[in-house]
Amino acid sequence: MALAPTTLFRAAAPGRVNLIGEHTDYNGGFVLPTAIPLQTRVELRPRADRHVTARSHYASPEGAYVLGQEQRTGEWFDYVQGITWAMRIAGGFELPSGFDLEIASDVPLGGGLSSSAALEVALLRAIRTAFDLDLDHVRMAKLGQRAENDFVGARSGIMDQMAASLADLHTALFLDTRSLEYEQLPLPERADLVVIHSGVTHRIAHGEGGQSEYNVRRAECEEAAHMLGVPQLRDATSADLPRLAALPDRPARRARHVITEDERVLAAVEALRAADLGRLGELFYASHASMRDDFEVSTPEIDLLVDLARADGEVFGARLTGGGFGGAVVILAKAARGREVGQRLAATYAERSGQKPTLLVPTETERA
Ligand code: GLA
Repeated sequence: MALAPTTLFRAAAPGRVNLIGEHTDYNGGFVLPTAIPLQTRVELRPRADRHVTARSHYASPEGAYVLGQEQRTGEWFDYVQGITWAMRIAGGFELPSGFDLEIASDVPLGGGLSSSAALEVALLRAIRTAFDLDLDHVRMAKLGQRAENDFVGARSGIMDQMAASLADLHTALFLDTRSLEYEQLPLPERADLVVIHSGVTHRIAHGEGGQSEYNVRRAECEEAAHMLGVPQLRDATSADLPRLAALPDRPARRARHVITEDERVLAAVEALRAADLGRLGELFYASHASMRDDFEVSTPEIDLLVDLARADGEVFGARLTGGGFGGAVVILAKAARGREVGQRLAATYAERSGQKPTLLVPTETERA
C-alpha cells in the first residue's frame, strides 16, 4: 500500500540519566537509569522512492542516502543509517519506501545523557507508526544497540536504548541487562535530581581509525573476565575480589569496578525501596570514586563538580553519569532545593574550572 507522500509522522524519545550502574551493561550486569525531561523529536515523511534525507536542527551536514546502500560516514546521520541498516540486517524489516526526516533535540550531544539512543528510539517510533510495524520496546532497544555496535562502531551496551524506550520521569528503571528483566521503582519524593553538564564533551564512537577509550574499557573487561574464568564480569561477585590480586593491575582494577558497581546497584535499589537518601548518596560517591580510580573514566572537571557537591550541605550524593571522559554529573539534592543547589554548584564550578557548565535538570520549565 503506497502512502501519500505528504503524510507526516511525529515521535519523540527522552534522554536518560543513569543513577548508578556504570559500565556494567556490556558486562551483563545491573543498571538504574531514569528518563530526563529533555527529548529528541523527529518528524518523518515517507517518500515515493527509496531515498532518505535527514536534517537536524542541532548538527550539520544534512544526510542523504538510498535505503539498502547505507555506508558509514563518521557523521551524525550514521545513527539514522544505522537504524535502517539494522532493521534490514537484524530485523528482516524491508521498508517499503524512503523518507524525509527532520530532527530537533534538547538532549546535549556528548553529554553522557544518551542523545544517540534518544534519536534511535524516536526514529524507530516514527518508522513503526509510518510503516505500521510490529515493534515492541525491547525490540526497538535491541535494534538501536545493533545500529550503534555494528554500524556506527561504538560497542555500547543496551542500557541507553532500553532507557530511551522504557524509562519515564517518575521511576527508575532497574534493569538486568543480561535477561532484560526490569522493574520500575518510584523515585524518592524527598529528593530532587540535578544534572549539570561539565562543558567538556565526549565522543564514544571511535573517530577516524582510532579505538575509543570506551571500546578499550570494554575489551579490558572481557580480558579480565577471561582471566577470572567467568563468561562475563556479571558472573563474578565480591567473593572473587581476593582473586584479583593474581591479575595484572589494569584488568584487576577494571574488574573491581564492575563487580563492586553491580553490588552498588543492588544496594541502591534497596535504598530506594527504603527511601534511605543518605545511603543512596553514599553509594553515588562510592560509585564515583570507583569510576575515577579503578575504571579511570572521569576527568579533573567532573571530579571537581563531584567534590563541590560533596561540600554542599543540601546534597546527598553525586557522581559522574554515563560513559565518562567528560559529560555530566548527577546529583541527589534535598527536595525542592535542586534548582538552587544546581545553580550555585554550576557557578562555583565555572569560576574554578574556566569551563561553561549547563544546568540541565531541573529544566527551565521545571524551574519556572
Ligand atoms: C554509554 C553506553 C552505555 C553504557 C554507559 C556506561 O552511555 O552507551 O551502554 O555502557 O556508557 O555505563
